[in-house]
Amino acid sequence: MFRWFKTQKKSLPPIEPLRSEDFTNATPIYHFFTDLTGIHFHQKEATTTPKLIRFAKGHNCFSFEELIEKLRADLSVREDLINLLTVNETYFFREKGQLDFLARRSRTLSTPLRILCAPGSTGEEAYSIAIILAEQGNALANIEIVSIDINTEATQRGRAGLYSKRALHRLPDEIKERYFLVDNDSYCVEESLKRCVRFSSCNIFEKEFVELGVFDIIFSRNMLIYFDPHTVEKAVQQLKKAARDDQSLFFFGHADLIVTPSVLEAHFEEGIKYYTLKKV
Ligand SMILES: C[S@@+](CC[C@H](N)C(=O)[O-])C[C@H]1O[C@@H](n2cnc3c(N)ncnc32)[C@H](O)[C@@H]1O
Repeated sequence: MFRWFKTQKKSLPPIEPLRSEDFTNATPIYHFFTDLTGIHFHQKEATTTPKLIRFAKGHNCFSFEELIEKLRADLSVREDLINLLTVNETYFFREKGQLDFLARRSRTLSTPLRILCAPGSTGEEAYSIAIILAEQGNALANIEIVSIDINTEATQRGRAGLYSKRALHRLPDEIKERYFLVDNDSYCVEESLKRCVRFSSCNIFEKEFVELGVFDIIFSRNMLIYFDPHTVEKAVQQLKKAARDDQSLFFFGHADLIVTPSVLEAHFEEGIKYYTLKKV
């Protein structure tokens, strides 16, 4: 007697076709990023594209087309890309001549002063202004400094107020002693400084920037260098909305402006260039 066994066929999972990667054309990503932030990459694409490929793969995208879809649909992916591609280099007492000039102009203030750092990156600029004004004998309670940046990690770090030795390399020892608590190699800004600086993650081209209100002093240093001339003009139109009136002072980084933007008037005093709104 024979018994016939039927060989049972095991059902195997369907074989997924291997997805091939295609990272040939990064141009749409650059356009998307420039439209969003104003930042141009010009000659830096050769070093930036490998970063973009790693970023895309890290977000499970097999092509730049897929990445662009994700960037359009998902705010957190957009935030990650901004945090990856923005250059947040800054340090305490950078371009200090302008800060000293401001301190001389605002010696012992009688009225409250609102100051904007747009962009403020990780906070060194805002805290430097607070230190310089305090050193002039101004009560910090009279001063409000708002530091904004499109990079959310930078503003978080500013809020924490914790810095490495490197960020403080321009500070004299007595300033470090007066305004920082030292813990091993970390320097934490003192509470009185923290109280007068407010951090906000925001893009100067978006409406939340205008909602910050108006300011007596506007610092916008070392951001416009990443924009093309048309975007510089657009950015300055935005910054104009943050001016309280035609007495408000604007300070830019030394390489930021090649020509004076149409809405501003340049002044040169005590070796320092600053701007006010052009009177109409
Ligand atoms: C090199 S840092 C300058 C920081 C500081 N002002 C200084 O001079 O040391 C430039 C900063 O501009 C910020 N940024 C670039 N585009 C921006 C935008 N559209 N809105 C707000 N911040 C922007 C970047 O995230 C970066 O932190």
